[in-house]
Amino acid sequence: MTNPSSPNEYFELPFSRSDLHPDPIVQFSTWYAQAKAKGEIEPSAMSLATVNKNYDISARMLLLKSFDNNGFAFFTNYSSPKAQSLSEIPKAAMVFWWPLCQRQVRITGNVVLLDDKQSDEYFNQRSKASRIAAMISKQSAVIPNREYLIERFQSLSQEKTNTEITRPSFWGGYLLQPECLEFWQGRAHRLHDRFQYTKNPNGWEIVQLSP
Ligand SMILES: Cc1cc2nc3c(=O)[nH]c(=O)nc-3n(C[C@H](O)[C@H](O)[C@H](O)COP(=O)(O)O)c2cc1C
Repeated sequence: MTNPSSPNEYFELPFSRSDLHPDPIVQFSTWYAQAKAKGEIEPSAMSLATVNKNYDISARMLLLKSFDNNGFAFFTNYSSPKAQSLSEIPKAAMVFWWPLCQRQVRITGNVVLLDDKQSDEYFNQRSKASRIAAMISKQSAVIPNREYLIERFQSLSQEKTNTEITRPSFWGGYLLQPECLEFWQGRAHRLHDRFQYTKNPNGWEIVQLSP
């Protein structure tokens, strides 16, 4: 059996309690900017885990589209398996991994729908091709082959002018409202630095966790 574990030593950036901003959103914003500056290929890519009422757990990669004090926004198909799970149990976990920075961020919380205006705004910023792709895809449904997709894509592209391609009701955004965030910095000898923020009625409590 091959050993998939990496021999990497984590050596970078010490991270101590005094480096932490009391507000985890500001802390995330700093790390996100540093991940971009470091040249991470897709710093907004994260794994989103959901569970349905039968306890079937599922995780998939998504792109974070924005974040602020209200939460972390992503966009998807409202008829997809993840959307079905979120309608049953509106909670999720997000994980970011920024290998060049040797950093992980974990976020959990409740998930709510973004309002139509926010979803429209984001949809309308997308290229014509991306909007058409969203319209023709019954996300995660079985299809006969790739030609089936291309045919639908081409026929809608010819049929609709740019302004006619408005957001379909089955596509839009969600907001994960964070309740717990953990910032993980890789360190030498597997003695990694981990700090966890948990929301309580008075604000955010910060604790350090054993690696
Ligand atoms: C890097 C990356 C980014 C992705 N971003 C999105 C996204 O923002 N929205 C989306 O619906 N699917 C995105 N996907 C596809 C999802 O991983 C997944 O295949 C799809 O959403 C169906 O998931 P579901 O069947 O669990 O609902 C992305 C995949 C990768 C690899």
